[in-house]
Amino acid sequence: MNYSSIDVRPKSGSVGAEILGVNLKKEISSKQFNEIKAAFGQFGVIFFRDQNLTPDREIKFAEKWGKINVNRFFTNVSGYPKIAMVLKEADQKKNIGGAWHTDHTYDIEPAMGSMLFAHEVPQKGGDTMFASMYSAYDNLSTGLKNTLNGMKARHSSKHVFGKDRASRHDDTVGRIRNPEAANQDAIHPVVIKHPDTGRKALYVNPTFTLGFDGWTDAESKPLLDYLYQHATRPEFTCRFEWKPGSIAFWDNRATWHLAINDYQGEKRLMHRITIEGEKLY
Ligand code: SIN
Repeated sequence: MNYSSIDVRPKSGSVGAEILGVNLKKEISSKQFNEIKAAFGQFGVIFFRDQNLTPDREIKFAEKWGKINVNRFFTNVSGYPKIAMVLKEADQKKNIGGAWHTDHTYDIEPAMGSMLFAHEVPQKGGDTMFASMYSAYDNLSTGLKNTLNGMKARHSSKHVFGKDRASRHDDTVGRIRNPEAANQDAIHPVVIKHPDTGRKALYVNPTFTLGFDGWTDAESKPLLDYLYQHATRPEFTCRFEWKPGSIAFWDNRATWHLAINDYQGEKRLMHRITIEGEKLY
């Protein structure tokens, strides 16, 4: 792909690219937007620097990509129900998203993508890692690809956001809410055909996938464990170091992400906007 209206700098050999030469505080041309869209498809996650958008401007940029999903579990930014807060206060030990996952796989029509806008970042640490589920799939043996192509998996939100979690009174209190809304379970193919790129991607994840459809959790575990360690091989990943004003926008159908919790005693505040998606096949 040749980009002429933006500068695209890949972050690793398999996933992620930084986009330069764009000012999201202003209207962008349709040529720029189409090239940003192409980069999103090609790299799975795109990054912008020094944008410092107001909440209204964050919503405006997000709405260019689709309908915003109003998050039912995260506390919203005051006055902005469309923006979820991903917050860790200096005195809180646990972070949100600290294990590999992709968002909303417990929904029957899972989110297409999520945007994170950095507002306050620690002096050091607090990076986010991304892994390519295209690379994970492409690098499996033909035999395992053939097996997985015929399979489906069960996903749930209950064990992560439901009442058992809420009643633990851990320090996610105040950041995670509405345990009664954790009533979603969904079944998706283990390998999806990406609705936009047509590429095959591995679509199970360590946080929300419970097991394979028709298999017990215990039967599923060894193969899921194998897939999870395979999918996070370093060569399938990239790591993004945040600065205030940075933005990441990831494709939930093509990547996983993990927020590194290595900044105890410091505050980190991000705004997150999630874009709705469609049923996957
Ligand atoms: C998330 O999982 O949505 C949060 C990622 C991050 O805070 O880096």
